[in-house]
Amino acid sequence: MSTSAIAINGAISVGAYFITVRMIPRLREMFIKANLCGKDLCKRDKPQVPESYGVIIGCVFLISMFLFIPIPFAFDEDAATDAVTGGKPITFPHDKFVELIAALLSICCMIFLGFADDVLDLRWRNKLLLPTIATLPLLMVYYVNYNSTTVMMPNFARGFFGTSVNIGIFYYIFMGKLAVFCTNAINILAGINGLEVGQSLIIAGSVIVFNFIELFLGHQVESHQFSLYFMIPFFATSLALWKFNRYPSQVFVGDTYCYFAGMSFAVVGILGHFSKTLLLFFLPQILNFLYSTPQLFHFVPCPRHRLPKYDAKSDLLHISTTEFRMSELSSLGRLMVIVLRALRVISWQEQADGRVVTNNFTLINFLLVVFGPVHERVATEMLMGFQVLCSLLALFIRYPLANFFYATQSSI
Ligand code: UD1
Ligand code: MG
Repeated sequence: MSTSAIAINGAISVGAYFITVRMIPRLREMFIKANLCGKDLCKRDKPQVPESYGVIIGCVFLISMFLFIPIPFAFDEDAATDAVTGGKPITFPHDKFVELIAALLSICCMIFLGFADDVLDLRWRNKLLLPTIATLPLLMVYYVNYNSTTVMMPNFARGFFGTSVNIGIFYYIFMGKLAVFCTNAINILAGINGLEVGQSLIIAGSVIVFNFIELFLGHQVESHQFSLYFMIPFFATSLALWKFNRYPSQVFVGDTYCYFAGMSFAVVGILGHFSKTLLLFFLPQILNFLYSTPQLFHFVPCPRHRLPKYDAKSDLLHISTTEFRMSELSSLGRLMVIVLRALRVISWQEQADGRVVTNNFTLINFLLVVFGPVHERVATEMLMGFQVLCSLLALFIRYPLANFFYATQSSI
């Protein structure tokens, strides 16, 4: 049944792709009329582009998944109602069924909150809160349904802690934080045409490849099937969006898409029990987040937009900058910029009046510091290339690493 469920899921996804491709251009006027647009900042005439298309993609994804709900269950003998009791037989996988519904509820909630963010332009504080709220359905169902908060210990720690440790409430905190990280990490590696969708496509593709490898090896079959049920339609709908969002963008995805994508990854990582492997696929986002921390936590001034600066003459992207006096920074802020400067990972220019000008701390700007000004399309391609390399590296180290750290094949 499971192989046919994956095949039906694939067929629904192909349909979703074609429907999305047809829908996107037709809805442009509607978005512009509703004033849901943003300026394409890296173009000569800064055209208005319809924004928040994530809400369309999210809806097509949800409809596809709603149609898919009965497929893994309904054709099973266990799904038939018991003639005597009137209920489902105990062999019916109630837990799996409710997990699927709860996962969809969390993603649905995230799309709704993401769209609210796009319309209301929320502050950073609230942006961190939204994914936490959206994970609640998932965490509550997990609590009632499964409530396993035990983690396997790596070999070197087993002498102290034993094979596994029950970490209780911290497990829930970890799951909530994973959703906050996945959603925001995609949202802050953004600002040039196609990057939000491009990185999400590569992460989704990597998860799909990983799921198929695990299925082939016969590891945790149900978890990886569950992940595929979500990732295949996600990939298909995102691919349709990519057609219109890549350089030169005809539509923007908005925070709705970044949240929707991050939440979908968090859900499959959590319920598929491979959150640590998932994080391996987020390597560029982790690097971008770590590099960004001085600005995200306001140790260094952070402008509203950190995307690169467009030079109309050469049609190339240059680094965007932030300015400060060393004396204005806290001691921790000073230490951070001194270390980053010593590591030569930021540009550094001292003005005559003592002000320091450095690039904004994002991976896109770092790329420009290293390679000099490049065209917007090339910058997206380079970052996507880096994402692919990181995924290959992740897959390459995943198996030897798991065997090295964990005696048995565990869910990592
Ligand atoms: C995040 C980043 C911000 C970056 C922005 C770009 C942090 C803390 N925040 O903010 O630095 O500038 O994303 O998305 O790192 N845009 C383009 N070209 C594109 C995509 C977006 O010009 O290819 C511009 C458009 O004007 C669009 C706007 O960015 O309207 C969207 O920004 P928004 O998603 O609201 O920014 P944040 O997610 O808050
Ligand atoms: Mg955004």
